[in-house]
Amino acid sequence: MIRADAIATERTVEKLLIEGGRPLRGRLRVAGGKNSSLAIIAAAALAPDHSVLENVPRCRDVLTLLDILRALGMAAEFTGPGRLELDARRLTDHVAPYELCRQMRASIYVTGMLLGRLGRAEVPLPGGCVIGSRPVDFHIRGFETLGAQVVTQHGFLKAYAPRLTPATFYVPRSSVGTTINMMLASSRIPGVTVLQNAAREPEIVDTAVLLSLLGVHIRGAGTSTIMIEGSGDLHGATYTIIPDRIEAGTYLIAGAATHGDVVIVDMISEHITALLTKLTEAGATVDADPTGIRVRAETGLRGVEVDTAPYPGFATDLHPQLAALLTMAAGRSAIRETIFEKRFGYADELRRMGADIRVEGDTVTMTGVPTLSGAPVEAMDLRAGAAMVVAALEARGSTEITGLENIDRGYEGLEQKLRSLGARIQRIPA
Ligand code: EPZ
Repeated sequence: MIRADAIATERTVEKLLIEGGRPLRGRLRVAGGKNSSLAIIAAAALAPDHSVLENVPRCRDVLTLLDILRALGMAAEFTGPGRLELDARRLTDHVAPYELCRQMRASIYVTGMLLGRLGRAEVPLPGGCVIGSRPVDFHIRGFETLGAQVVTQHGFLKAYAPRLTPATFYVPRSSVGTTINMMLASSRIPGVTVLQNAAREPEIVDTAVLLSLLGVHIRGAGTSTIMIEGSGDLHGATYTIIPDRIEAGTYLIAGAATHGDVVIVDMISEHITALLTKLTEAGATVDADPTGIRVRAETGLRGVEVDTAPYPGFATDLHPQLAALLTMAAGRSAIRETIFEKRFGYADELRRMGADIRVEGDTVTMTGVPTLSGAPVEAMDLRAGAAMVVAALEARGSTEITGLENIDRGYEGLEQKLRSLGARIQRIPA
């Protein structure tokens, strides 16, 4: 049980209280993809028309992006669970609000969209999770290749292009955000823009499908070469966002970590094949078909080694949650992080809970301990926060997690979903 005295003390900040040590069991449907939604909402703003998006999660990053777009003149309203109605006919302003953009990385998509739609953009340099230096130099190079003049001034990225021209652009490091932004900026340019070394994430494919519904001729999404033939005559569309592969992965990891039995229904299982392979290697039983995934772990798990990589490799966004599981897996485990150099914000927090964990360079190593013990910990960023939740669910005793604004950026209804799987979890308001 969650102790009343724990609830009564320190009401100054909002926190999650989790009483761990109970196996998670049950079936769950995850929300639509957060990162897909961010790209697709920005893409829908390219068409001066109404669009309807289904399966949009009401997480904080999505709500912040909607506020940014409203400030530019777009109307946006949730008219049902996951149903978002957009009207971009009056989107005429090209200067995005400073405070809102500072709160999230995906505000950079507003630059590509405004360049494509209005030929000019003034967008504050983005904020977002503190997981590495996260510059925007690739985006700038991409816009310049399309003929835009780009300067950084007073904290703003200012881009201007009376006429964009199609071009061929090599996407450095297969950057997800740069691929999306180039798709947005080129979607209204007549002629063919070619992206080489493009990101292949499912969110890229999802965005490409929406763009094609708007009237863009786009081929190759999901491969490393994407060809975009833009059109000045885009129209609105109705589209359903794919399920969130990182949210699904988080609950499956939590199920395995607590020696439970979790089924994610209506999930595109091939989107998390790399995770499922590692869970199997760690000793969990995985049953996946094209429409759903079941993960069980009746016995103890064993350590594994993982390198994060662009899709279809092991997603960096699932690294912290897997690390939380591996703290209690027998033997030695290692995760090498190849995308974001500071994605280890969770390691010190897991140590407070009794984990034997150390970070050296780009690699975190863990030696499994028989049990973690509940402790006050902080969600240092979005996925580090998810790792705290996984650790709290597998630990003995109660854990208090603060820094919930980070978790709320990307998880809709986290407590309700976990409670439906049998977790003892409660949000204590500030
Ligand atoms: C997207 O970030 C996701 N964000 C991230 O999800 C995800 O971790 C990441 O892709 C990798 O899959 C959104 O979709 C909103 P990148 P993004 O450009 O686009 C470097 C989550 O937890 N780089 O593919 O920012 C960069 O620093 C989030 O949901 C530059 O150097 O990632 C990184 O090392 C966090 N210059 C690498 O490239 C640039 O201009 C790949 O980053 C751009 C990127």
